[in-house]
Amino acid sequence: MAVYRNIVILTGAGISAESGLRTFRADDGLWEDHPVEEVATPEGFARDPDLVQRFYDERRAQVLAAEPNAAHRALGRLEREFTGELLLVTQNIDDLHERGGASSVLHMHGEALSAWCRACDARHLWQGTLRDGPACPTCGEAAMRPDIVWFGEMPYQMERIFAALAEADLFVSIGTSGAVYPAAGFVQQAADHGARTLELNLERSAGSHWFDETRLGTASTLVPQWVGEVLGA
Ligand code: APR
Repeated sequence: MAVYRNIVILTGAGISAESGLRTFRADDGLWEDHPVEEVATPEGFARDPDLVQRFYDERRAQVLAAEPNAAHRALGRLEREFTGELLLVTQNIDDLHERGGASSVLHMHGEALSAWCRACDARHLWQGTLRDGPACPTCGEAAMRPDIVWFGEMPYQMERIFAALAEADLFVSIGTSGAVYPAAGFVQQAADHGARTLELNLERSAGSHWFDETRLGTASTLVPQWVGEVLGA
């Protein structure tokens, strides 16, 4: 096992599947119930804010009811014990990485437990509902939306992510279908800068051909095993 000094990890819905949170594109996927355009776009929010607020109120409640699994806990251990540089980027809006012991998590698609005030731009940790138009704790306006990056909006902290990909000597993708950009392009960015690339996923993804190595299985099995290899190296 090589010794790595600078690791970037990207996770997707698959790492939280065993915690009971539905992924997006499986047969029972989240997008099966709601056309993406209706609940995950600014246009959908403008057209029917109540539907969108209720959709994310439901996501928020499910996140609060879920528990981190062995994969989240293994990445928490990696963050504590790995002596090199580590950036954990997630597409997920749940807080299971944090509750699994990771303290520095970059949520590029936003967070279910965060509310964003459209009147004053403040963000607030939010565990309740937004459908009833609660007052923003900062400005008092009833103007808060889910702090989620919708389709057509710019994911968060892209500069920081690209800078990390340019320095990484290992890029690991866990539990993502490689269906949505810019996240799906990270493996190519990392490879272009000489990083080794590893995919841990239940099945081959749209991007599997870009990876040096793909391991197929559940995250709760593959991630602790891989973390053990990295820390043992
Ligand atoms: N262990 C590992 N991988 C799993 C598991 C598991 N237990 N269960 C499912 N997977 C894999 C699936 O095989 C699939 O490749 O996780 C992936 C989930 O893919 P998607 O449902 O497309 O979720 P994701 O890749 O995170 O979607 C990316 O798309 O809709 C947007 O904003 C949304 O962040 C999301 C983005």
